[in-house]
Amino acid sequence: MNRLIGLGVAIAAGVAVAPQTARQDLALKDLMPKGMVIGVAINQRQSDGVDTAAVGIITKQFNQISPENLLKFQLVHPTADRYAFDAQDRYVQFGLDRQMQVVGHTLVWHQQTPGWVFQGADGTPAGRETLLARMRDHIHAVVGRYKGKIYGWDVVNEAIDEDGSLRQAPWRDGIGDDYVAKAFEFAREADPGAELYYNDYNLEKPAKRAGVIRLVNDLRARGLRVDGIGNQAHWRLETPAIDEIEAALIELHGTGLKVMYTELDINLLPAAARDADPALANPYATGLPDEKQQQLAKRYADIFDVIVKHRDSVSRVTFWGLSDADSWLNRGRMNYPLLWDRQRQPKPAFQAVVDVLSRAR
Ligand code: XIL
Repeated sequence: MNRLIGLGVAIAAGVAVAPQTARQDLALKDLMPKGMVIGVAINQRQSDGVDTAAVGIITKQFNQISPENLLKFQLVHPTADRYAFDAQDRYVQFGLDRQMQVVGHTLVWHQQTPGWVFQGADGTPAGRETLLARMRDHIHAVVGRYKGKIYGWDVVNEAIDEDGSLRQAPWRDGIGDDYVAKAFEFAREADPGAELYYNDYNLEKPAKRAGVIRLVNDLRARGLRVDGIGNQAHWRLETPAIDEIEAALIELHGTGLKVMYTELDINLLPAAARDADPALANPYATGLPDEKQQQLAKRYADIFDVIVKHRDSVSRVTFWGLSDADSWLNRGRMNYPLLWDRQRQPKPAFQAVVDVLSRAR
């Protein structure tokens, strides 16, 4: 239906524009409430400029980028004596060239961190002093290199468990419970001008959210700089419920910190075991039924309704990938979590977000 409207507009205007061009005439970044940026996590083919179709959309639509993988420990610091900065420099430059807010993700995490980091002498686990020195060196090298260029960093990612306690993680095993505070301390030293964030998922679950709020309050009680809470927002069609999303936003913002949706996507696939019947595990292998397409659009409209309603509480919204082809949620199946389809055409969900933002202006 949107295609026909787009075509109608093009014909009425008497110009030969493709319908999809007409539909993408509006840019999300121009429609966002004042002071709120909108971004996307980009992959290396995009920051290297190889995926030109994607680069065109990213440049037009967004004013913020996050690195999907490039600045994770494993990629930027693969071995003890080697940092890999080539592709990382191009990522940062990609954003600076386009006057975008460039985000760093992520310094301290229990995943995508190479094994050498946690190894001590003779195969024993590294102890507190060794791990603190490695953490400090890493943060100073990476944050220091992009000082004044990277606007804000996810300093620590996913440190809280579902019950609200500190998650068991190799950084914690070696350093102790103050490893989170140490990471924020080192990041502040390395670039006093950068915003510093704590980032996590499932923040609509009260116990986990309470743990995150305790953690950021503790960091601030120690006199550390913390600017914002990143809510990853890896959500589904039905869960979390929209009122849970709103309640979480209100409570997180009650800390006085900025709240950001840092990794937004909507997973349409069932959580299926690897050996599950393919028809059940991969139900949209040949395409997404229109009914689901409309449900996805409605879901995104509901989410952006909450965001514009609480425009003073949200400083940023970042999608975790540009098109469905780019999404980490495929993993061998066919998922449809984002605003652009595999042909890089805007989906009804894109139009739904445009409509909500336009109405709110
Ligand atoms: C994901 C990337 O999208 C994948 O390409 C990679 O294989 C694994 O990590 N939470 C995070 C992100 O903070 O860094 C993760 O990104 C998704 C979950």
